[in-house]
Amino acid sequence: MLARAMCGIVGYVGTREATPILLAGLRRLEYRGYDSAGIAVCNGEQAHLVRCQGKLAALEKLLAEKSPVGAYGIGHTRWATHGRPSDENAHPHKAGPISVVHNGIVENHVELRERLIASGRVFSSQTDTEVLAHLIDEALQAGAASLVEAVRAALRQVTGAYAIAVLSDRSPNVLVAAKNASPLVLGLGKGEMFIASDAPAILEQTRDMLFLEDGDIAELDHSGARITDLDGNPVVRKPRTVTWTAGQAEKAGYPHFMLKEIHEQPRAVTDTLAGRLLPDSNDAVLEDQEVTPLPSRVVILACGTSYHAGLVGKFLIENIARIPCEVDLASEFRYREPVVGSRDLVVGISQSGETADTLAAVKEARARGARTFAICNVVDSAIPRASDLVLYTRAGPEIGVASTKCFTAQLAALTLLAIHLGRRNGALAGVAATELVAELMQIPHKMSETLKETGDLKALARKYQNVRDFLFLGRGPNYPIALEGALKLKEISYIHAEGYAAGEMKHGPIALIGDGLPVVIIATRGKGYDKVLSNLAEVRAREGQVIAVATKGDTAILDQCEDVLWVPDAPPLLQPMLTVLPLQLLAYAVALARGNDVDQPRNLAKSVTVE
Ligand code: F6R
Repeated sequence: MLARAMCGIVGYVGTREATPILLAGLRRLEYRGYDSAGIAVCNGEQAHLVRCQGKLAALEKLLAEKSPVGAYGIGHTRWATHGRPSDENAHPHKAGPISVVHNGIVENHVELRERLIASGRVFSSQTDTEVLAHLIDEALQAGAASLVEAVRAALRQVTGAYAIAVLSDRSPNVLVAAKNASPLVLGLGKGEMFIASDAPAILEQTRDMLFLEDGDIAELDHSGARITDLDGNPVVRKPRTVTWTAGQAEKAGYPHFMLKEIHEQPRAVTDTLAGRLLPDSNDAVLEDQEVTPLPSRVVILACGTSYHAGLVGKFLIENIARIPCEVDLASEFRYREPVVGSRDLVVGISQSGETADTLAAVKEARARGARTFAICNVVDSAIPRASDLVLYTRAGPEIGVASTKCFTAQLAALTLLAIHLGRRNGALAGVAATELVAELMQIPHKMSETLKETGDLKALARKYQNVRDFLFLGRGPNYPIALEGALKLKEISYIHAEGYAAGEMKHGPIALIGDGLPVVIIATRGKGYDKVLSNLAEVRAREGQVIAVATKGDTAILDQCEDVLWVPDAPPLLQPMLTVLPLQLLAYAVALARGNDVDQPRNLAKSVTVE
């Protein structure tokens, strides 16, 4: 199971004061989310909630003024997915006696919320989590025999991913935790129990841990945990002693955040598609937004890796929706007297949502009358705030400076946008729609397969770690991946690398080839495959060393290259979500072999808020 980096949860039940224990845990979890935080602590009468927008320091300040007293409680640090970061949207969420913290996405929250509102319930936040609090309270009012019984009844109505911790004012010294597709671990103390999204939060308290599995529900008190499934059948899970340091545990055992984030990509794409890709109708919904009127042109604006995602977006939008699409570097667009207007949809793509050039370009387009659409990973950051419409990638916080999981999540978001537009203008219909949606559903699985198959690339990195230059070639939707592969390599390994459209090789770069220059060629099956093979032969004929990214089973390619990195077969438009993975791993392995600081490469910052 891959770690899901989105929000952090802690819980404590025992005999000590809960507040300092929860706070210590949240400090260790802040890397999982940091736009708001909160705790609920109960002294057996009524839970006391303290929560606020902002980093944990803001919560600590509030708690320094008045710290809730009690020996059981839950806490949360948030990375927004539904509802902007605000005091009201901060967890825990309360309904009647129930307080809940949640990590994940309740996919059917809209229907559930409508039903609950129709039955007279009042909501005080925009989150999907508040739905869970109401469902549990409703189950209790309907006669559920215990808190754990009520949680079971609630979860049976929910689809999606969750890790939750729940307390009730009326069930003293009891916590309930449940997990499906989001991580959750129990810490076993002496006369006390802990809950956490992952081990680092509670390592200071105990090393004896019990990792819950999907479908598990645990009822905890100071003496231990009873684990059952959704139907109440007992489940046995074996505790284990964790030997990681807190630092290692933060990275889920990976040596670097970048490697962890590379491996989180299947999850990031799954989450970005969740609830938006509709396999029953072969459609895509953009939350409750509609791009109306349909644009006559799409203009994508972005920088760096997000710009490369935009270049893939052009293929997706033009092929799937048959709408002309241009892609521009935000830093160029804003100073160019651009021609945009009311019939254009201007899409700003940004991981951070704060990139100064992209923000200025989006504002410029809006001032000229264009409708603006943000694809962004940070909820309520500057670019979404400056845009008319927004689609959030749900990659979770990206800590490694080199962007990886946000890139593939951006590709997933762009595919949703293309399907949405194509369905509305009729360009995508019938079998083509069915096939595309079915293939897209397969992508996260194929991504996992690719990561597994590629492995650590240490041997390949040793071979090339001392070269001066690298060339990356690709065609069609894989041309932007050649650019991205080169960018990844240069930014963390500091080796000069260039990405080129394979067809352009003969117009200049071919002069570079010779003396064993490594050339990475994306040569996957599909349109243009034969042409790429000719490029490959041209490189070989000039003593270049070819590292091919090829379709699994394409044995014919084996004797034409030095090394092959395999990806599963997929339609060309969806291949970029696969072909980029071995290139990220290659950059990582080469940087590591050269002894570089992979997570914080020289001269770079995570968010570029200057021009
Ligand atoms: C490369 C990288 C940068 C960013 C660029 C735009 O790994 O991270 O090239 O992609 O600075 O940043 P965002 O997406 O935050 O606008």
